[in-house]
Amino acid sequence: MTSQAIGNPIPRIDGRAKVTGQAKYAADFNQPGQVHAVIVPATIGLGRVTRIDADSVKAMPGLIAVISHLNAQRLPYNPHKGAIDPQEGERLHVLQDDKVHFYGQPVAVVVAETLDQAERAANALRIEYESQKPAVEAHLLVGSAIQPNRAGRSGDSAIGDADAALANAAVKVDAKYEMARENHNPMEPHATVASWNGDQVTLWSKSQFVVNEQAEIAAVFGIPVENVQVICPFIGGAFGTSLRTWPHVTLAALAARHVKRPTKLVLTRKQMFYTTGHRPHSIQRLALGASRDGKLTALIHEGFTETSRYENFVEALISNSGFMYSCPNVRRQYRLIPTDTSTPTYMRGPGEADGVFALESALDELSYLVGLDPIELRRRNEPKVDESNGKPFSSRSLLQCYDLGAERFGWSRRAAQPRSMRDGRLLIGMGMSTATYPVLYSPASARVRLLRNGIVEIEAAASDMGPGTYTSMTQVAADTLGIPLEQVRFSLGRSNFPPTPPHGGSQTMASVGSAIRAACLNLQKDVTALAVADRSSPVYQLSAGQVAWRDGQLVPTSGGTGISYRDIAARHGQPMEAFASARRQQEVAERFSMHAFGAVFVEIAINPDVGIIKVRRIVGAYGVGKVVNPRLARSQCTGGFVGGIGMALMEQTVLDSRDGRPVNAHMADYLMPVNLDMPEMEAHFVDEHDPHVNELGVKGLGEISITGVAPAIANAVYHATGKRVRELPIRLEDVLST
Ligand code: MOS
Repeated sequence: MTSQAIGNPIPRIDGRAKVTGQAKYAADFNQPGQVHAVIVPATIGLGRVTRIDADSVKAMPGLIAVISHLNAQRLPYNPHKGAIDPQEGERLHVLQDDKVHFYGQPVAVVVAETLDQAERAANALRIEYESQKPAVEAHLLVGSAIQPNRAGRSGDSAIGDADAALANAAVKVDAKYEMARENHNPMEPHATVASWNGDQVTLWSKSQFVVNEQAEIAAVFGIPVENVQVICPFIGGAFGTSLRTWPHVTLAALAARHVKRPTKLVLTRKQMFYTTGHRPHSIQRLALGASRDGKLTALIHEGFTETSRYENFVEALISNSGFMYSCPNVRRQYRLIPTDTSTPTYMRGPGEADGVFALESALDELSYLVGLDPIELRRRNEPKVDESNGKPFSSRSLLQCYDLGAERFGWSRRAAQPRSMRDGRLLIGMGMSTATYPVLYSPASARVRLLRNGIVEIEAAASDMGPGTYTSMTQVAADTLGIPLEQVRFSLGRSNFPPTPPHGGSQTMASVGSAIRAACLNLQKDVTALAVADRSSPVYQLSAGQVAWRDGQLVPTSGGTGISYRDIAARHGQPMEAFASARRQQEVAERFSMHAFGAVFVEIAINPDVGIIKVRRIVGAYGVGKVVNPRLARSQCTGGFVGGIGMALMEQTVLDSRDGRPVNAHMADYLMPVNLDMPEMEAHFVDEHDPHVNELGVKGLGEISITGVAPAIANAVYHATGKRVRELPIRLEDVLST
C-alpha cells in the first residue's frame, strides 16, 4: 500500500455539501403526495387507555386518520434481535393493545395533510386513562435490582478475595458514585419518511444502522427483508440514539400503510425524551484498598443501571476496572434496576464513560490519602497484562500518554495541595484521569466497482454521523489502490449496499475500513489478471512476481512502462466489480486484550461567590493505533471533550416521581455545553503501531475521548475546592458552600 492519503489531515469531503445545504437528511426526502403523522404520547406513567375520542377531532381541517390500538393493523412482530438490541426481553409493540408502560409511550398517531393540521389534531385528541403510580426513581429501587443473564463485558467476576483484602488494607477508599440519566439530544431530530409500493416499503430514516432497521421493520411487518429499503446518507449527530430502530419508525410505516400515502413523521425535541433511548441513571460502589506506598491490594466495583420492565439493557459499566490497573484482589458485579420507563440505550462512550467516572474518581481520592501525585499513583499500578483474563494487550501506550499529556498540559505547574491555586478570587483546579475504550471490530463488507473512465465506486451500508466516514474510507480506498482521492466515490447509508455493523462503538474505521481495503485488494487482483492476459498490455504474460502496483500503475518489476486502472478498464470495455467481507481473526481475539488508552487533563476555574465552574483547558493524549486522518481525529476528540463537559457539569434528565414525566424535556432546561462553555482543547496522539488489531492498525476513536473527561473535571473540582463531589452533574450548589 502506498501511503499518500492515510495519515494526512484531509478536509471532510462532504463538508461542502453540508455547509451549502446540499446534504439531504431524513426529513428532507419529501415525497409527492406526502402527508404528515404526529405521535400522541401517553400522559400517564403506568396503566391503560380506556377511551380514545376520535370523534373529538373528526371535523378538524385536513385530518386524514386517527390511528390507535382500536384500529391499527395487527403487526406480527416476528422475533428480531439486532446487534444493538437488548438480548433479554422484548421491544415495545406499538398500538397493539391498551397498555401504557411509561410516560410518553405512543398511544395514537394522527395523520393530516399538513404538519400544522396534524399537530393541532394530536393536541386536541381526548384520551382517557386508568392510571397507576409508576416506580421511576432508580436510586430508591436498588433493593429490587436483578442480575442480567447476559451481561456481556459487565459480567460478574472475582479474583482473589477482594472483601478480605479491603478489610485488611492500610489505606482505603469506599464510596458511592452516581450519574444522572442523560438524553442524547443531537441537532437532527429522529425522522422517517415512509412510502409503500404494494408490499414494499422505502424508509428515508435517520439511522446509524440501516441494515438492522431494514431487518427489524421486515420482522415487525412480517414481510421479506428485501421488501424494505432504508436510506440515510447523512446524520445530524446521533451519539447512539439512532442505533436502535425506535417505535416511531414502525409508526411511520404503519401510518403510511393505513392512509395509503407517503407519510412523514418527525419527532419533536420533547418526544426525543420519551422512547429513543437514554443513558441509564447509574449508581456505583467503588472500593479500593492499598498499601501506604500506593500499591492496590483490593478493588471492588459494584454497578447498577436502570432499565425498563420489558427489556434488560446492559452496558459495559464495570468492564474497565478489570484491566485498567494491577491488583491481586478484584471483585466486580453488575445489576439492573427495572423501572417503569422506556428502555435505555448506548450513549457516548456507553459503559466505559460512566464506569471510568467511579474508578478514576476513586483513584484520585486514593492519591491524596497516600500522598502521591495522581499520575505517579497510576504508574505504580500499571499492569503488565490484562489481569482480568491474563492476556497480553495487543498494545498499550498509557505511560506514554501520561507523559505526553502531562507535558503538553503543564502538569508540573500544578501545586499538590487542594485549594492552593488561585487566579485572583477564582479557585483553580487541575485534575486528570485515564481514558479507555475497547477495540471493536465486527464483520463488515464492501463492494468496489472500477468504471471505464477509471473512477472507482465503493459501496457499504455504513453511516457517517459526524466522524468523517465518507472521508476516511475514501482515504483507505485511494491508498489501497494507489490512486488519488478524486478518483474514488464512496457511497453509504443504503440497506441494499453490502452489510456493515452498527455505526457505533467506535468500530466503523476498523470494520468498514478493513472491508473496503479487502474489496480494493480483490479488485486489484482481478484487474491484474486481466492486464497480464491482454496481448496489448505492457505486462502481458508476466507472472505475479514480475509485476507490481505503483501509484495506480501496474508495472513490470524489471522496469519499463506500466498500465493504469483507467487503461485496463477502458480496454476491458465494461465496469469491473469486486466484493469482500472482513472480520477479526478468531485466534487474534483469543490471544490479545485489545483496548485504546489515553490520559486526559483538565484545568478549571471556580468562582467561589456564585459557584460557577468554568472549564478552561482540556488536553488529551491517546494511543489509538494508526490515525487515519489527524484533522478528523482531533475533531472527534474535541467533540468527546464537549460531551464530557456536559456529563460532568450540565446534563441530567429529571423525571417527575409521580408519573415519570421528563420535566426538562427541552433545550432550555436540559443543559448542554454551548460556545461560551468551550475551553481550549488539545488532542494529541502517541505513535502507536499495533499489528494485531486489524490490517489497518486502527483502534477506533471517538468514544475514548469522552471517557475520562467527567472524572478529570470532578478531580479538578476537588483540587480547586477540597470538596469531593461524587454525583454527576456537579452543580453550582455543590461547590457554593466550599
Ligand atoms: Mo455510539 S453510543 O456507540 O453511537
